[in-house]
Amino acid sequence: MISQNFINFIYLISAILFMMGLKKLSSPATARLGNKLSMAGMALAILATLMAPGLSFKLIALGIIIGTIIGGWAAIKVEMTSMPEMVALFNGCGGAASALVALSELQLRGNEFGPAMVEHIGTFAMITLLLSVIIGGLTFTGSVIAYAKLQGIVSGQPITYPGQQVVNGLILIGTAVLSYMVFNDPTSHLLFYGICLLSLILGVLSVIPIGGADMPVVISLLNSYSGLAVSMTGFALGNNALIIVGSLVGASGLFLTKIMCDAMNRSLSNVLFGAFGTGGGSDDGGVVAEGGGAEGSVKGYEVEDVVMVLENASSLIIVPGYGMAAAQAQHAVRELGDYLDEEGVEVRYAIHPVAGRMPGHMNVLLAEADVSYDQLFSMEDINDDFSGTDVVLVIGANDVVNPAAKTNPGSPIYGMPVLNVEEAQTVVVLKRSMKPGFAGIENELFLKDNTMMLFGDAKSSVQALVAHLKG
Ligand code: TAP
Repeated sequence: MISQNFINFIYLISAILFMMGLKKLSSPATARLGNKLSMAGMALAILATLMAPGLSFKLIALGIIIGTIIGGWAAIKVEMTSMPEMVALFNGCGGAASALVALSELQLRGNEFGPAMVEHIGTFAMITLLLSVIIGGLTFTGSVIAYAKLQGIVSGQPITYPGQQVVNGLILIGTAVLSYMVFNDPTSHLLFYGICLLSLILGVLSVIPIGGADMPVVISLLNSYSGLAVSMTGFALGNNALIIVGSLVGASGLFLTKIMCDAMNRSLSNVLFGAFGTGGGSDDGGVVAEGGGAEGSVKGYEVEDVVMVLENASSLIIVPGYGMAAAQAQHAVRELGDYLDEEGVEVRYAIHPVAGRMPGHMNVLLAEADVSYDQLFSMEDINDDFSGTDVVLVIGANDVVNPAAKTNPGSPIYGMPVLNVEEAQTVVVLKRSMKPGFAGIENELFLKDNTMMLFGDAKSSVQALVAHLKG
């Protein structure tokens, strides 16, 4: 018979592995090792849990088989650009699992102790079980809506109606009232199901007013919620692994949400209640908003012109953005960078924290294309170097290089930290048209005297540049 102390000891080792894994995830160079450490931690935690007495291995084996097939198939099939959708579904499953465990625990204890249940399990355990049902339930449906918005199954536009927040507030109060009633009647399954239903509705209603392009922030927040739900279940069941892992997920999700909001210079309440943005990028017809009356003219160039500029450069900074991801141009970009590097050009990549549509989007794509980590620079580390750089190649980026964030107090992105690309000697912008990016605003960078526009799909344009340079 394996003692609970031994199981807790293994949980402790897995918790240490999770923390080391998280730490390693903070740098692209060590992120792969971080993932492996976390995977080892999870495998240990599962093994330790399976050592607990009184388990039904038939059911567990069935669950493992079904979960492995679905999860494995989804992970192999998923496109890199669909990773936010996948994470949304994972969060939703985490929330649903916590809610279901808590719900069954409530029913089991209700059957066991009857009306005296609260005295037996204690008020704290009762509250944590109810919170797990509520947070888990709203995380589940909120994540499903986030997934549906990103997939285009539900409109990416913010869905709003008068009195929306009041309705949400009333549902929240209703959930609190039902939870209070459970204390007097802990055997009522009807009350449990009522709480569950209201939290599921709350999840849907709180995510539909948020624009599709803000979904990564919402997913990060829901990730944090799913962690909270897990840790609540852990408190109720007295399971240390669930408490530690849930707290880690809850805290790191919250930090990530804050980092994303700060990088966009928006508050969390603006993201959640501001109905900001279009459905998710210029492809869905973002409208050009007031741009602050930028002056100048757009100068479209041919591939040969850009090749000439690149051939005469001794330093180059590549600035990738959402368009590079949409065009899947990362491999062509790496080929271009490598070629110029071999020709003696100093090649660096400048990564804005919210370039693209998910945290670390550009890092992941460039790592997939085998761009050397020591060529990747974060905004803080490279922003002062643009002024001494010959050429900046902006590949499908727009908002993250918009000088209006620094100069136009009327701009929706005013105050957002941006890359100082306009300070370079020559800026070459690769995009398909003059359409705006996520924020739906004009970009005066495209009109500046030292800016050359190369219109076209980013992948085709970069491939053409490489072919001409090599030719
Ligand atoms: P955006 O400002 O969205 O601009 C992307 C540009 O890519 C568009 O102007 C588009 O212009 C171009 N593009 C699209 N498809 C292309 C293709 N196939 N080939 C070439 N160009 C293409 O992107 P960004 O500069 O990366 O900024 C990210 C934005 O998303 C920020 O506003 C940020 O706040 C927001 N956001 C980011 C995150 C995270 S975590 N990364 C989360 C939520 C919101 P054309 O249509 O003319 O080609």
